[in-house]
Amino acid sequence: MSGRDPCLTGGQEGRILIVDDEKSMREFLDIMLTSEGYDVTLASGGKEACELLDSETFDLIVTDIRMKDIDGIGVLKKAKAVDPQALVILISAYATAETAVEAMKEGAYDYIPKPFKVNEFKRIVQEALASKKGLDTKGHEKPGGDKYHFGLLVGESPQMIKIYNLIEKVASTSTNVLISGESGTGKELVARAIHQLSERKDKRFVVINCAGIPENLIESELFGYKKGAFTGATTDKEGLFEVADGGTVFLDEVGELSPTMQVKLLRVIQERTFTPVGGREEKSVDVRFISATNKNLEKEVLEGNFRKDLYFRLNVIHIAIPPLRERIGDLPLLAYHFLEKYSKEFGKDIKKISTYALDILQQYPFPGNVRELENIIERSVALETSNIVLPESLTLSNLQQGRISQNRRRTDIGPEGIDLEKVLAEIEKEYILKALELSRGSRERAAKLLGLSPRSLRYRMGKLGLVAHKQ
Ligand SMILES: Nc1ncnc2c1ncn2[C@@H]1O[C@H](COP(=O)(O)OP(=O)(O)OP(=O)(O)O)[C@@H](O)[C@H]1O
Ligand SMILES: [Mg+2]
Repeated sequence: MSGRDPCLTGGQEGRILIVDDEKSMREFLDIMLTSEGYDVTLASGGKEACELLDSETFDLIVTDIRMKDIDGIGVLKKAKAVDPQALVILISAYATAETAVEAMKEGAYDYIPKPFKVNEFKRIVQEALASKKGLDTKGHEKPGGDKYHFGLLVGESPQMIKIYNLIEKVASTSTNVLISGESGTGKELVARAIHQLSERKDKRFVVINCAGIPENLIESELFGYKKGAFTGATTDKEGLFEVADGGTVFLDEVGELSPTMQVKLLRVIQERTFTPVGGREEKSVDVRFISATNKNLEKEVLEGNFRKDLYFRLNVIHIAIPPLRERIGDLPLLAYHFLEKYSKEFGKDIKKISTYALDILQQYPFPGNVRELENIIERSVALETSNIVLPESLTLSNLQQGRISQNRRRTDIGPEGIDLEKVLAEIEKEYILKALELSRGSRERAAKLLGLSPRSLRYRMGKLGLVAHKQ
């Protein structure tokens, strides 16, 4: 597009125009994007940018919002007038939600609030340029089509596809299934999907929360009772097993069952019969058991807390749902799924999640898994006053946010090994860029932050290819 030889730019391809009237910020963005291999042009204000836009073409324009002559919205309007497909990212520390709304209405690709993280910024730039080429935009827009869904289950990660296949396979049988996974991973949803796809779908799906029914009531709840069995038993009452006859019993939190109930349940599973409390006659039922646990049941067995024979009966087929952080690729899909759901519910017209907000979510470890994501999106839709979900309206706990940065660096060494020099250089680069960001481009202050002399910093920057364009 720029007509330049892409080989000259090294790594990433793309002509980027940076517009900022603050010199240190301009230089900082320049260093950051040049070091990634982009072809960077600088403009020291809105007016200069508009003039450049008349004579040159850019793949992406990154502009500050607040500038003295022509502001970022003005640059955006100009860019769109020259080329309606122009990609513009706005940055500002001062922008309020209204500015962001205005920017989005004028067709900005995204809006990034300051301060931002170097890696997140780089990723947004990369995604913006990829979207221009029609490449994967990592869920920036809600993808269409049904392959992302399996009934009510949303997700297209290899792990979820495997689960969909398993659900389909077990649905046609009556075998017992044990579903394990952390809280909020979708265990109940998977259980319901199995029931819905099975021949039992027209009969009941009965949920029994093994942790929620008081010990002294659990037997009468499950097996029912005969009139006169105890004080207050004025009539016969059907138990939940009978209600579920022909259908599915979902034993939620099965790891919480008391030892006595474990024995009784084992008998029902083995004999398919039970006796109501206070009754003498056995009743027989035809139910499929699907159990769920967020405990490691195998460990519970080894520790003597859960009967081994019952474990084997329940665990004929095992479906393990991985935590959301291990299938983070599903996050954009899920986030957009919940955005649609709650926008409709609250009568709002929010159709987009800002890339920056999505990036923040993708760094978050989600101890509460999909349920937590759903709650976060629900709250942000309720709070949001613009037509886009912005980072400000995400309510992640501070404690967890603090951990995000710690979780980011991995020390994995795969079977193919690593190139330590390269890895260390990357880390060094990240720290230098971070220090430059914190010192707003001042190399002297950055050197101080890094415990280096200015000379040593200059040397390292040269070695790492972090040398700014002269303008
Ligand atoms: N893959 C998914 N697609 C869409 N929604 C999901 C998915 N997984 C979970 N959810 C939603 O997240 C919430 C929690 O799911 P669910 O109740 O099935 O989790 P759980 O594993 O049973 O949690 P717990 O162990 O706390 O009982 C529900 O509102 C559910 O609709
Ligand atoms: Mg549950």
